[in-house]
Amino acid sequence: MSKLKGVRGAPDILPRESSRWQRVEDAARAVLRRYGYAEIRTPVFERTELFVRGIGEGTDIVEKEMYTFTDQGQESLTLRPEGTAPVVRAYLEHQMAAQTPLVKVFYLGPMFRRERPQSGRYRQFHQIGVEAIGSDQPSVDAEVIALLSALMVEEFRIPDVQLRLNSIGDAACRPQIRDRLLRYMRDRGAQLCPDCQRKLQRNPLRVFDCKQEGCQRLVAEAPKPLESLCQSCADHFAQVRGLLDLLKIVYTIDDRLVRGLDYYTRTAFEVVNPRLGAQNAVAGGGRYDGLIEVMGGPSTPGIGFAIGLERVLASIPAEAAGEGVREGVYIATVGQEAHRTGLLLLQELRHRGVRGLIDLEGRSLKGQMRQANKERVRYCLILGGDELTKRQATLRDMAKAEEQPVALDQVVARLLKLEQSGKS
Ligand code: HAM
Repeated sequence: MSKLKGVRGAPDILPRESSRWQRVEDAARAVLRRYGYAEIRTPVFERTELFVRGIGEGTDIVEKEMYTFTDQGQESLTLRPEGTAPVVRAYLEHQMAAQTPLVKVFYLGPMFRRERPQSGRYRQFHQIGVEAIGSDQPSVDAEVIALLSALMVEEFRIPDVQLRLNSIGDAACRPQIRDRLLRYMRDRGAQLCPDCQRKLQRNPLRVFDCKQEGCQRLVAEAPKPLESLCQSCADHFAQVRGLLDLLKIVYTIDDRLVRGLDYYTRTAFEVVNPRLGAQNAVAGGGRYDGLIEVMGGPSTPGIGFAIGLERVLASIPAEAAGEGVREGVYIATVGQEAHRTGLLLLQELRHRGVRGLIDLEGRSLKGQMRQANKERVRYCLILGGDELTKRQATLRDMAKAEEQPVALDQVVARLLKLEQSGKS
């Protein structure tokens, strides 16, 4: 029979890679906690209508990228392509606003989009996202952007990342922004690519997003949202910028940045790693002050972002992700009696929280030492026949290649102490 393969664009994360993932996820969780975000876990599928309404009918995601299916109960369901719409649904469904006026949540998990797979672009990918719902204060925008910057710059230490910032107006000034753009495009629209020509009527801002050279040339001269903001949006943006300057967050204004989902209002931002090639957006986000109402709730402002984990991992130098870190102990034994003693020590060590390994396949001592090295343990405890009669073992520091004898009844205490000092 032929071998079955996984789905294109939905890669496996193998054991040799998963520790890098965990390190990034753990680091992110710690930072998110410091900024006051609590985790929310929503299902990986939702009613299709949630995404159609939330993300917008004219967007690429809704038009061509959703994994939608009808279940046995004739309900149309969709694997989540993003996390904001599900969080807003949960926020309303569970009346989270009643608990606190500003709800701050984060999520971490797989998202699904049927895009053309290429380097950095997958059909199943992972996001860490945050949403702060309930306030339109510029201080919330500044805190959310500061958090994103802390993750990218201080925690993940991605070299050369750029934070790009824009404001794209709200319900009050968006009609004016659209009209000015449409007027500009009236005589020039024919030069746009067919896709943009189609989008022009439904959501003209989308043309700023197009990568086609002809469209890029045209939008370079087009009136930008930033130039047509109403007074309150302009004031809001000035305050956000003022706070970011105060916090010394480095950013550039990108007046062509519009984002690919329909729910955005006012502040929009992206983090780009220019070293990544075509798919260089590592994170994106912005305000969505109209979304909660679109979802059937009361008028409520919100803001958030999502980070693409695959792209973060592709951006981090291996060293910074913690490769090569040694941990725990391998117990190498010679003979059955030593193996039995080893098993007891191992049980005790594991019970006390130490990572411990022992040979389960009958390897020679040489084979066990090779295995210990491969497993990247910090120590190897060698139990041989001779040593056992003296109630002793040999403790080898794998990195320093130094050995010393230890009394058997001191082994656990010694290893616990060494592990502790290694962590501090
Ligand atoms: P987004 O810009 O569509 O925004 O996605 C955020 C990030 O997810 C991107 O910058 C990218 O790193 C990653 N990403 C998106 N699609 C793929 C893919 N096919 N393969 C690999 N990585 C991908 C959102 O999803 C919004 N929900 C963000 C947000 C939260 N806005 C407000 N709150």
